[in-house]
Amino acid sequence: MTIALSDLADLAATAEREIAAAADEAALDALRVRYVGRREGEITKALKTLPSLPADQRPAFGAAANAARERIEAALERRGADLREAALARDIAGGAVDLTLPPRRVRVGRYHPISRTIREITRIFAGMGFEAIEGPEVEWDYYNFEALNIPPGHPARDKFSTLWVNAEGTMEVALAATGSGRTIVDAGRKQPMLLRTHTSPMQIRVMEQRRPPVRVVVPGRCYRFEATDATHESVFFQYEGLAIDEQLSMADLKGVLYSFARQLFGGERRVRFRPDYFPFTEPSAEIAFDCFVCEGSGTTDAGRCATCGGSGWIEAAGCGMVHPEALRRVGYDPAKVQGFAFGGGVERLAMLLTGTPDIRLFHQNDLRYLESL
Ligand code: PHE
Repeated sequence: MTIALSDLADLAATAEREIAAAADEAALDALRVRYVGRREGEITKALKTLPSLPADQRPAFGAAANAARERIEAALERRGADLREAALARDIAGGAVDLTLPPRRVRVGRYHPISRTIREITRIFAGMGFEAIEGPEVEWDYYNFEALNIPPGHPARDKFSTLWVNAEGTMEVALAATGSGRTIVDAGRKQPMLLRTHTSPMQIRVMEQRRPPVRVVVPGRCYRFEATDATHESVFFQYEGLAIDEQLSMADLKGVLYSFARQLFGGERRVRFRPDYFPFTEPSAEIAFDCFVCEGSGTTDAGRCATCGGSGWIEAAGCGMVHPEALRRVGYDPAKVQGFAFGGGVERLAMLLTGTPDIRLFHQNDLRYLESL
């Protein structure tokens, strides 16, 4: 079908109406193809009839066809711009920011008071040349007791009621004193396994693996089958210290712990050593620091000092010179080397440092309390 010159203006007018009504970019594209498409567009089709027209009509027809194309392209351009603007306006309206909303709180994580205390302990001992290491929480009877001079039936087991692990790896509650732990097989050895009651087994493990000089501090979890109260938990942390060298004495032990106390609590702390008993140290002692709240007087303006219970002293750790039998057991010569060991509770220090009155507050994971520290 051919198109007459007079129809070209109508074609442009129809196209302009349809273009102005195009609902979106896709509809607009379809109209662009239909009217000004290079192959099948109406204008192209009209121009293709040009050679069949009488020569004198060709210039006028060609000019009219080009004028129609310009009107249509201008209409496409206008509608395209309108559609893009409308889309932008919609986007802005849809994604509007409500500046009256309360801000989203940024919660910054931080260390648990127990972790903080362990880091502080290991930092202070690192300053005195002690390397921080860790050991297994599930331990052989051998390391937890036997190698520390606590054979089955030894009364020292009484204070270490603990949790035994049987061969299937499930836990069984038993009294260590009864020696009723289940046996499990390790490298041909049958022996009971338990959740360690203290970090002291690491004394033996470290000495087995290293030659003197040795200087380590070992923080870690320990377990005892005990009723909990304000100062006891069945799961708690200890830090163990061990130093072995050729000329170590009780004086070195005192100096190290004295320095530790002053760095941890500040001021001129006094230390009190009292004889104590541990099967794996000889001689053994209990170390206490003078109370950093009442300065050792036992009283504050409010009366009896709540921090030390009025005694003026804060018991901090058990300690002593490593027993010659333990040294021999790991192949050290007690005539050539000797050393000291100490072990104390981490929670106890954390309670003192944070003023926490009950050890259980550390493990209940109530963020209202933990975040207040
Ligand atoms: N392991 C002992 C306890 O838990 C403390 C201790 C450690 C004593 C090292 C002496 C030497 O009671």
